[in-house]
Amino acid sequence: MNTLVTGRRLARELGEWRSAGPAYRALADRIRVLLMDGRLSSGARLPAERELSTALALSRTTVAAAYSKLRDDGYLASVRGSGSTLVLPGRERGEHTLHNGLPLDFTKATAPAYPGMAAAYLAAAQEMPGYLTRDGFDMVGLPDLREAIAQSYRDRGLPTSPDQVMVTVGAQHALNLVTRTLYSPGERILVEQPTYPHALDTFASVGARILAFPVRQDGGWDLPEALLQIRRAAPSMAFLMPDFHNPTGMSMTIPEREYLAAAAGREGTVLVADETTALLDIDRGALPPLACFSPSVITLGSLGKIAWGGLRIGWVRASREVLARLLRNRPSSDLGTPLFEQLVATSLVRDLPQLAASRSLDLRIGRDTLVALLTEQLPQWDVVVPDGGLSLWINTGTVSTSALALAARNEGLGLVPGPRFGLDGAFERFLRLPFGNGAGQLRDGVAILGRISPQVGPDPLKMPLQAVI
Ligand SMILES: Cc1ncc(COP(=O)(O)O)c(C=O)c1O
Repeated sequence: MNTLVTGRRLARELGEWRSAGPAYRALADRIRVLLMDGRLSSGARLPAERELSTALALSRTTVAAAYSKLRDDGYLASVRGSGSTLVLPGRERGEHTLHNGLPLDFTKATAPAYPGMAAAYLAAAQEMPGYLTRDGFDMVGLPDLREAIAQSYRDRGLPTSPDQVMVTVGAQHALNLVTRTLYSPGERILVEQPTYPHALDTFASVGARILAFPVRQDGGWDLPEALLQIRRAAPSMAFLMPDFHNPTGMSMTIPEREYLAAAAGREGTVLVADETTALLDIDRGALPPLACFSPSVITLGSLGKIAWGGLRIGWVRASREVLARLLRNRPSSDLGTPLFEQLVATSLVRDLPQLAASRSLDLRIGRDTLVALLTEQLPQWDVVVPDGGLSLWINTGTVSTSALALAARNEGLGLVPGPRFGLDGAFERFLRLPFGNGAGQLRDGVAILGRISPQVGPDPLKMPLQAVI
């Protein structure tokens, strides 16, 4: 059975969809963006024309024309009696982002592999024969790797023993496992707004009701709002990125960490701190991990950003009781983390300070290059310079970034529209631009943005009403 998207839900996801052109075309374009960036899935059934026209206060002819355009372009299949179903045509089938196959990919906040990766792989290959007499199914992680991870927490001021660590196939896997283990149907999950899109995907996949509280570049974490949500809705979990938050690059202050840990502890909400980005420091300096402020915090870690995404090694740090629950739940989805990658990871985790220092140098160059290019070519965009992380989170002021992503695609540049980072169509005028790419790519990407953004803006909501048909 295909998921039915109600008119109200589609209206929420569409957000500020109007543009200066004909309404039917703007509507079709925006539905296409939602499909391509994963906010609507291939196979989802769109609401009937009449329902959507009511939800959007539009004429039914406009909705019918938009559906017809989607159908002509191959994005909608209509079967008499069973409605209109979204389809990803041709080469986009099975892909859920706007970028695939494009020469310039600004959709991922990643960086090239750490220069020592090849040596780490070669050294692991030498060690591997010693492991071939085992059965190879490893559900908790190799002892040396767990100890190296525990030591890395102790080095950051957080006492940790190896039996508080479970190695996983990346942080995304860890988040899935934690969510499936802690979450029960009907409960709520609290997230930051903006947040990491695939965390939203994970929470949606278990059917969770998601609540959000703002993280503002000019004011930090809105903790009074977080507390209000926690008190009002008693979410079972809150998902946070306290260090170099993706996409803003911001970090919680120590008082913010203390406040949140105390409030969540009082109300019984488990804090899940995703530290995938925690070591991407450019000029901030060390801060104590969130778990220093409460023993019940569950921490997710990864080598994906600091070493290389292709390694696929992450972990969970939690109490022994929580780890025992995770372990019981794990076999239903996977039977362990590959040993070879764990051997590679062991040497990398032992060298984390060097990895962080090497990454920091490159990120500084990337950040400063991107900021300089934007200042020169798009001075009207509001660029806040983060002290770490992998991306800028830019308030363009007037540009619809969903429309920008479509236009950029025609120029060979992959972008993620701002609303992918929020709930209900928020952040339409925001854009995440990663700076882990080389200087040449940054130059080419910003040149395209400079060229196309005047064609995309201005934001129709800021235009006189008669311009919106
Ligand atoms: C905040 C955050 N969490 C988790 C992940 C996924 O990490 P991994 O590649 O280790 O699965 C990412 C990757 O983009 C991320 O940015």
